[in-house]
Amino acid sequence: MPRGMFITLEGLDGSGKTTQIKRLAAWLERRGVEVVQTRQPGGTPAGDRIREVLLDARSGALAPMAEMALMFADRAQAIAEVIEPALAAGKIALCDRFTDSTEAYQGGGRELGSEVVLALHRLICGGLRPDLTLLLLPGFDASLARARRRNTRDEAQSGRNEGRFEQEQDAFYRRVWQKYREIAAREPERVVLIEGDLTVDEVHEQIVEAVAERIVLATHPG
Ligand code: TYD
Repeated sequence: MPRGMFITLEGLDGSGKTTQIKRLAAWLERRGVEVVQTRQPGGTPAGDRIREVLLDARSGALAPMAEMALMFADRAQAIAEVIEPALAAGKIALCDRFTDSTEAYQGGGRELGSEVVLALHRLICGGLRPDLTLLLLPGFDASLARARRRNTRDEAQSGRNEGRFEQEQDAFYRRVWQKYREIAAREPERVVLIEGDLTVDEVHEQIVEAVAERIVLATHPG
């Protein structure tokens, strides 16, 4: 059985990843590809509980190292329970956020630096590397405004507050943004950067183009 393909979506809060991941999964499934979709933090029973600690504003200020360690605990569980089994079964594993998020948010946003994140990734995740990462970076101000609106709306509807990150200052998000750009420049063969204020359809088209290219490459090597 040939190994499947690991695709991740990355971007700032409010960048439209959730809409795009759903559309990509539907596009792949229409072509008869088996897809396993997940997200981080979360996506496993233990991971969903870790997610609550990480995102609930009531957790207060977590020490940056504690926050990073929880992100990796969640990831190790997701790799063992969801991602590796999907890849071993020849499926496409589609993950909303992965280690690039930790490098951008904890490494950049919390200023822990890239080195510690990459070292932990090697130790805890065995260096598992996405075959393709789609990085959505629409206009900075528009994404941030959307993330903050969404948080207020979600809290009003469900009484839950998953907005611990959305409460961060603009300077934090600027550092996250900057680190994402750094990752894209460092690994251009893996990371496809989709930037600017495009429509949902335009972003979907760019995503599909990048994925279609890799699927052809994967099935017809050379
Ligand atoms: P989520 O609701 O999934 O946000 P979005 O829908 O915007 O992707 O919340 C995930 C939050 O956790 C988001 O603010 C980014 C943050 N995060 C990190 O800081 N480090 C990480 O390693 C991951 C996976 C997420």
